[in-house]
Amino acid sequence: MGIRKMISSPHCSRREFLSQTGAAITLGSALYLTGKSFAAGSQGPNERIGIGLIGAGGRGNSHLDMLQWMKEQGDNIEIAAVCDIYKPRLERTAQKYGAKAYSSHHELLADKNVDMVCIATPDHLHGVQAIDAIRAGKDVYCEKPVTHWRQFDTTKELARVVAAGDRAFQLGTQAMSDPVWRQMKKLVQDGLIGQPLYAETGFFRIGDWGEKDMPVDDPNARPGPDLNWEAFLGDSPVRDFSVDRFFRWRLFMDYAGGPVTDLYPHCLTQVVDIMGVGFPQAVTALGGIQRYDSPLREVPDTFSLVAQYSEKAVITVMGTQGNDYNSGDTRGSGQRCPVIRGWDGSLVIRSNKEIEFIPIRIKGAKTPQRFAIEGIEDNVTHWRNLIQCSRSRSKQTFSPMELALRTQTVLHMAMQAFLTQKTIGFDVQTLNMKV
Ligand SMILES: NC(=O)c1ccc[n+]([C@@H]2O[C@H](COP(=O)([O-])OP(=O)(O)OC[C@H]3O[C@@H](n4cnc5c(N)ncnc54)[C@H](O)[C@@H]3O)[C@@H](O)[C@H]2O)c1
Repeated sequence: MGIRKMISSPHCSRREFLSQTGAAITLGSALYLTGKSFAAGSQGPNERIGIGLIGAGGRGNSHLDMLQWMKEQGDNIEIAAVCDIYKPRLERTAQKYGAKAYSSHHELLADKNVDMVCIATPDHLHGVQAIDAIRAGKDVYCEKPVTHWRQFDTTKELARVVAAGDRAFQLGTQAMSDPVWRQMKKLVQDGLIGQPLYAETGFFRIGDWGEKDMPVDDPNARPGPDLNWEAFLGDSPVRDFSVDRFFRWRLFMDYAGGPVTDLYPHCLTQVVDIMGVGFPQAVTALGGIQRYDSPLREVPDTFSLVAQYSEKAVITVMGTQGNDYNSGDTRGSGQRCPVIRGWDGSLVIRSNKEIEFIPIRIKGAKTPQRFAIEGIEDNVTHWRNLIQCSRSRSKQTFSPMELALRTQTVLHMAMQAFLTQKTIGFDVQTLNMKV
């Protein structure tokens, strides 16, 4: 069935959607059916899990602080190893946690005491390192975004590798540990809002995430004695070393993408899941540097996108890093709460305590309803979910790779739309963009 035909078909489940798509089945069905599997090498319910960190910067260290606290609370885990290509951070972090120090992620992955890795390197290194980790038999906690915006092939490859194996994968979108999204998804699946039609979400915050917010640890740092520049570059374009590129990588398009890749995985992942949509048929986007115009900055600070789905649904994401007012409720990490609209009514979050169902205003409409929210996002819960999946050899994490693929596809397309100033189509048969 071609895209045009699917446009006219009524809303269908994700599985039905994929079963209608020729070649997508090869990759897609494997990716969607991430059910349980049990295999040798799984961590038994009482075995210690050795965790290795790749990327000992700001985020990596906050993960280790959290894991250390969890260990002190009785979680049977150990911070076994740390890897960084910048010597001062590697030495400092390994010493702090009494962990083995590696200057290459390949060496860390060869360590038999490492059962699970946390990938907290710059964006452009996540995908390749996650593929290497899964292939080495490790469970993976991978920071968002799952890949860099120009690495769509890597995203698909990682999805294939995760689907083909038995290792658990958790994307670092910790908002997915918030039970509210599963509650909303269930209400949508139960038919409360009718046919899902339109969802809006966004992320508004203040901060340049660059010159001001990313300090240069050492202006005299040099490749060779201090750091491995080639390992930092990975598959990004070859460039001469610069301390700004190394320490303030978020400003550069080679390694980052601005809010669309940095922040929108946090607010789009749950909306894609709740709406039950597959891959978008078209995405358009606009944005730019609206506030933090500086000599170094390449990435936009303001970005809006619209994704059209063949299930007759639309998702919009709006945001800026130049103003932090969020109309409506905010939740967890500070992102704006989504509005989920269907033919029969809408779901919104009220005062962070309730999900409210607001029926459409027509005669004979459904009755308004409210549902108590059962918790809040929590990074410890996100980690414990992965650890539990590792012990039971389940792949059904809160933020699995198959969902990351669908979400990241929107972000890849949005970035192409922004760069080309065109609407980008998608061929669901081949899972390729139509640029
Ligand atoms: N989920 C969240 O809320 C959240 C919050 C902050 C950051 N993050 C993500 O975490 C990641 C890291 O962000 P950060 O702020 O810690 O950056 P950072 O620059 O502070 O840390 C990155 C570290 O990776 C190291 N590194 C670079 N290349 C490497 C390689 N080839 N192998 C091993 N180490 C390498 C660097 O030396 C550095 O120490 C980013 O992708 C970011 O999007 C997520």
